[in-house]
Amino acid sequence: MNQQVIIFDTTLRDGEQSLQSSLNTSEKLKIALALEKMGIDIIEAGFPISSPEDFKSVQTISNNIKHARICSLARCVQKDIDIAVQAMQLAKNFRIHIFLGTSNLHVTSKLKKNFKDILEMAVYFVKYARNFTDDIEFSCEDAGRTSMSNLYQIVSKTIQAGASTINIPDTVGFTIPNQFSKIIQNLYENVTNIHQAIISVHCHNDLGMAVANSIAAIQSGARQVEGTINGIGERAGNAALEELAMIMKIKSKLLNVKNNINYKEIYNTSRIVSQICNVPIPFNKAIVGKNAFAHSSGIHQDGVLKNRENYEIFTPDLIGLKTVKLNLTSRSGRAVVKHYMGKMGYSNKDYDLNLLYINFLKLADQKGQLFDYDLEILAFVKDYNKLL
Ligand code: KIV
Ligand code: ZN
Repeated sequence: MNQQVIIFDTTLRDGEQSLQSSLNTSEKLKIALALEKMGIDIIEAGFPISSPEDFKSVQTISNNIKHARICSLARCVQKDIDIAVQAMQLAKNFRIHIFLGTSNLHVTSKLKKNFKDILEMAVYFVKYARNFTDDIEFSCEDAGRTSMSNLYQIVSKTIQAGASTINIPDTVGFTIPNQFSKIIQNLYENVTNIHQAIISVHCHNDLGMAVANSIAAIQSGARQVEGTINGIGERAGNAALEELAMIMKIKSKLLNVKNNINYKEIYNTSRIVSQICNVPIPFNKAIVGKNAFAHSSGIHQDGVLKNRENYEIFTPDLIGLKTVKLNLTSRSGRAVVKHYMGKMGYSNKDYDLNLLYINFLKLADQKGQLFDYDLEILAFVKDYNKLL
């Protein structure tokens, strides 16, 4: 099986949908440039029919991005496709991403149609979009809740109509990993023309399964994953791309896959998206959270000072972050206190480590986290210690 996994970013589309206020063109361009630097293969720049500003953003991004492929979302509506094409006219390479609900719920209660109509619409609009490019992605919206027999039919017919990528979204984050991987496996086993298209997955995080489901799908043969930086997106968000990329790297032998991500850009891209979108990154967020490389307990800190591999499965410099953080708290041991004093240029002879450590624990119990300047005061300002 082909090892290459295409990384499709939808921070500017699905991610942006979830923000309290929408992004303007210059903000979106800054994010797109960061995504390109990070090695993202496909940037879903927006949903151009949705507003004039969104149209302008897609146009500007198309004009400025050199390497990544630009993608725009469109419903199965002719005007959506026409406007998407217009917005991407200046792009070096572009993709039209068409979606249509395929679950019974979406077909009957949202679209007020029957499944036969859905098949006809999907085929018609994939063919229509093929007038503008060979690169068509068709998404079976709510695939996670679509019956397998309906999924086989729509996947087979849209490939036949010319879709080069078939996306299987778990739109409401309903599945769990072995269930989702089985859907992909079933498609490979039951759709005869499946190898004519790339199978993509797009997982939402309603049950906290988005990343796990995407990885399970890769193990069943999906070769495109969709997600967002920091996992922002509708409701509980989308699969976090920095997590997916890092899992592919750390587990590359087990998964037998590769991608084009420039890992050193992960940290910066994450910060840029957080700052522009005004969405703080949780402290304990995997890979990019403030605490992802911070060690707090004395035993862990001592272990890390001896050999980082004791408590780190990869070093922060891999994602472009320079420092490992050893938190100074009441759980810290003498080793880390000595380490910080050494970093500030003090040798063992300059201060009494045992006394410093006793006072350090007293202050840490009062204040929580301490910093290097606290250590200096405790080590050298005797009157201060009397007040503890
Ligand atoms: O979650 C979803 O189903 C989507 C589609 C438009 C791909 O975002
Ligand atoms: Zn989505």
